[in-house]
Amino acid sequence: MKEIVGKNVFLTGGSSGIGLSTARLLAAAGANVVIFARHERGLEAALVQIESRRASAAQRFACRSLDVADRERVSAVMAEAVQSLGAPDILINNVGRALPRHFEDVTFEQFDETMKTNLYGAWNTISVLVPHMKAGGGTIVNVSSMAGFIGVFGYTDYCASKFAVVGLSEALRQELRCYGITVAVLCPPDTDTPGLANEDAAKPAETKAVSAGARLMQPDDVARALIRGIERGTFMIVPGGEGKLAWSMKRHLPALVDMIMRRGIRQAQK
Ligand SMILES: NC(=O)c1ccc[n+]([C@@H]2O[C@H](COP(=O)([O-])OP(=O)(O)OC[C@H]3O[C@@H](n4cnc5c(N)ncnc54)[C@H](OP(=O)(O)O)[C@@H]3O)[C@@H](O)[C@H]2O)c1
Repeated sequence: MKEIVGKNVFLTGGSSGIGLSTARLLAAAGANVVIFARHERGLEAALVQIESRRASAAQRFACRSLDVADRERVSAVMAEAVQSLGAPDILINNVGRALPRHFEDVTFEQFDETMKTNLYGAWNTISVLVPHMKAGGGTIVNVSSMAGFIGVFGYTDYCASKFAVVGLSEALRQELRCYGITVAVLCPPDTDTPGLANEDAAKPAETKAVSAGARLMQPDDVARALIRGIERGTFMIVPGGEGKLAWSMKRHLPALVDMIMRRGIRQAQK
């Protein structure tokens, strides 16, 4: 079991949803936590919540503003964070965005921005921080999605980015093992966050139909699964019973998964 107490955690997208829940639980578990996001006000409000979960006076908490898609800014901000707070033992690449739409309504600009945020964003932080993590080892968790192993109607750009995050993580796991760095990927099902509320407002009817009936997870439960995954060194972290069932069905009964999706889509299109 890997220790959390006293570890330095760098967490992107830590001011909302799954990221904020994870930061709060890591603080309660005794970690030092640095959160990164774009908007200062959200970061500062999140930091107050994280501070309130402190387990000991020795813990350090901080926030830094950056856009993970901006490679130069990531490079400068991460270098400064390492210098002033120390190298991370745990890096969690949690930033992600989704704008569900029919494929023909997805502009090149949307596709480009989704890839830059969800995939390049993770690449940017990893490439800057791995040189600092190699000496001490640690864990990198990249947040994908169930839409990172199941193609979902209305999510062509999102699925492309999240499948890619799984591939990046699997290859990286092989390469970084020799430095004592474990790479994992988190694939949450639908989770009750501000991000999902925005997505729901834009979902095509078919997308709503295929996810109807699925249980909505709470961000604290997803965060608990993430932290358990880090402690155990699990590669594919799929929170919740329904998520695990979907992951198992996708591997062993892919035709059944396709049939269930087609049925929902046909009903919505009637
Ligand atoms: N919620 C779900 O149902 C669900 C399901 C499966 C997977 N996921 C994945 O889980 C992760 C978290 O989702 P969530 O729903 O918790 O998100 P959320 O509530 O929308 O929070 C997103 C966080 O990322 C930050 N962020 C967004 N774009 C950024 C950028 N370009 N650079 C830096 N920070 C940025 C946001 O702060 P700022 O706006 O201030 O930057 C915020 O802190 C995402 O990768 C998402 O794809 C979510």
